[in-house]
Amino acid sequence: MYPFALCLLAAVSSVSASTAQTCKTLDAKIPGRVSYPDSTAYNASISSYYSGQERDLNPGCIFRPTSTSEVSQFIKLVTSSGNTQFAVRGGGHTLWPGAANVDGGITVDMRAMNSLSLSEDHKIAHLGAGAVFSDIYPQLTPYNLTVMGGRVPGIGAGGFVTGGGITFLSRKHGFSCDNVYGYEVVLASGKVVYASQSSNSDLWLALKGGSNNFGIITRFDLAAFPLGNMWYSDLSYNYTDSVLSANAKAFSKFMKPANYDSAAMMGMFVYYTNQGFGVSNAMWYVEDVANPKVYDAFTQIPNLGGVSELATVDKVVNDFGQNLPATTGRSYQLTFTFNNPPASVYLQLIQIWEKRITALSKVEGLFIEFLFQPQPVTNGTNMFGLTPGKTDYVLIDMTAAYDNASDDALVESVINDIVKQQRALLKSSKYLVDFIYLNYADISQNVLSTWGAGNLAKLQAVSKKYDPKGVFQTRSPGGYKLFKK
Ligand SMILES: Cc1cc2nc3c(=O)[nH]c(=O)nc-3n(C[C@H](O)[C@H](O)[C@H](O)COP(=O)(O)OP(=O)(O)OC[C@H]3O[C@@H](n4cnc5c(N)ncnc54)[C@H](O)[C@@H]3O)c2cc1C
Ligand SMILES: *[C@@H]1O[C@H](CO)[C@@H](O)[C@H](O)[C@H]1NC(C)=O
Ligand SMILES: *[C@@H]1O[C@H](CO)[C@@H](O)[C@H](O)[C@H]1NC(C)=O
Ligand SMILES: *[C@@H]1O[C@H](CO)[C@@H](O)[C@H](O)[C@H]1NC(C)=O
Ligand SMILES: *[C@@H]1O[C@H](CO)[C@@H](O)[C@H](O)[C@H]1NC(C)=O
Ligand SMILES: *[C@@H]1O[C@H](CO)[C@@H](O)[C@H](O)[C@H]1NC(C)=O
Repeated sequence: MYPFALCLLAAVSSVSASTAQTCKTLDAKIPGRVSYPDSTAYNASISSYYSGQERDLNPGCIFRPTSTSEVSQFIKLVTSSGNTQFAVRGGGHTLWPGAANVDGGITVDMRAMNSLSLSEDHKIAHLGAGAVFSDIYPQLTPYNLTVMGGRVPGIGAGGFVTGGGITFLSRKHGFSCDNVYGYEVVLASGKVVYASQSSNSDLWLALKGGSNNFGIITRFDLAAFPLGNMWYSDLSYNYTDSVLSANAKAFSKFMKPANYDSAAMMGMFVYYTNQGFGVSNAMWYVEDVANPKVYDAFTQIPNLGGVSELATVDKVVNDFGQNLPATTGRSYQLTFTFNNPPASVYLQLIQIWEKRITALSKVEGLFIEFLFQPQPVTNGTNMFGLTPGKTDYVLIDMTAAYDNASDDALVESVINDIVKQQRALLKSSKYLVDFIYLNYADISQNVLSTWGAGNLAKLQAVSKKYDPKGVFQTRSPGGYKLFKK
């Protein structure tokens, strides 16, 4: 399954003396939480990353805390031990290497901190920051409640919520991070603080997009929303000019502010595999209503059938998850945002993709998805610098999954080239928006600087205040860091 064992073995030798010592001390101090290469626990943690690029990295040890106090002890120890580097992981679904794993350092696997409790009025879900949403939804189903989490199995709260979070409810309530009332955070000093609108509010706001730059989050206090059954449909179509044209028209119309329906989320997928091209629509309606009219223009296009169901969130997540690879050998992803253009512009974007993507026809195990989605309708409580209440931002996610590292350079160059041409088209026609969505971006995309100079400066100031020594900037190297090296 993993043809990269040789790289893994080579990496073991890069564990520094400092890391080895820190692992040992940690193991003695908090017994039972540290695992080493070649053990079952270590292997299980590594093999559960979504992408092969993350599985290739081999930390000196993996620390699996079970409480906030253990996280605090870890941070105190690691910051007083030479130059040991560390990474923090949640669901491990970021694609690029080093986001949530670290070669030769210590990886903190947060997934044992996965508790869930509800406030008495059922309006707040207290969620352990290592929780994986697909394990949480079934626990909320008996209450007819949900939280704003991932739409396929395995997505962790830690990365998803700190990077934004696009959910079934995002047309109504914005990004998941807009709906976090409070964060329990372990700072670089080991101090545990609570950040909310009324305490440490600068940190509270910074964490709404700030990813892993400010501390290790140990608990999210998230808005819980009433939702029993929702409607989900996924329809496939033949990839023909007339289908693409009808879809482009339908999507452009769906995105017009006059047609905005806050319950209606969807994704228009154009894809390419070794078998050729395809197109499908995933439609999600967060009311107990079958076949909502808002999707008529999509469902009336002659199609090859698919799913249509009224079901609970946990079931929809499992069913939709069947459409995507459960894990990938290699993967690469880019994203960008624009204002809803006329149908003709969607078709031009697809044509650019269609012409160039066939250069990948020989790539083994290829699955490319070119996904159009309505962007969340944010109320602006985050660091993204987007216009609050705007309903017609469209978000692109172009993801390649394939088998073999020897194809990395080709895949990256083709995807980069397509996105470059598409952005140039949108820029010249004045539809392009600067904003880059962190959770769909590659590390090569300059995410934080697209949120506006003012917001980057705010993030930097919060870092200086809560992490004056820059521990999360230098000792935890993976991620979109706040200061240029
Ligand atoms: C198949 C698939 C489907 C997806 N679907 C969606 C979707 O529906 N909507 C959407 O918005 N996104 C989606 N994504 C993208 C997803 O939001 C990101 O990959 C996100 O980072 C996943 O979170 P994680 O905890 O699993 O990631 P990880 O890779 O574990 O972590 C991501 C980042 O967060 C940091 N982090 C994790 N936990 C903590 C913590 N406790 N404290 C501080 N920092 C922490 C890590 O250090 C890392 O830098 C999808 C991705 C995949 C692969
Ligand atoms: C862990 O994985 C390595 C590398 O794939 C393998 O050599 C080793 O046997 C595994 N150990 C256990 C206990 O599973
Ligand atoms: C949840 O919703 C279903 C369907 O609307 C209803 O039958 C059930 O009583 C609700 N359960 C709770 C705990 O409110
Ligand atoms: C946005 O929504 C969140 C969650 O409901 C709320 O805490 C915040 O005050 C809202 N902000 C604005 C500007 O309305
Ligand atoms: C899809 O294409 C196949 C093969 O050309 C054809 O038989 C089928 O009727 C088409 N289906 C639709 C819904 O257009
Ligand atoms: C990867 O590609 C190389 C070179 O094309 C080939 O020799 C090898 O068999 C491929 N490996 C896998 C696992 O597909």
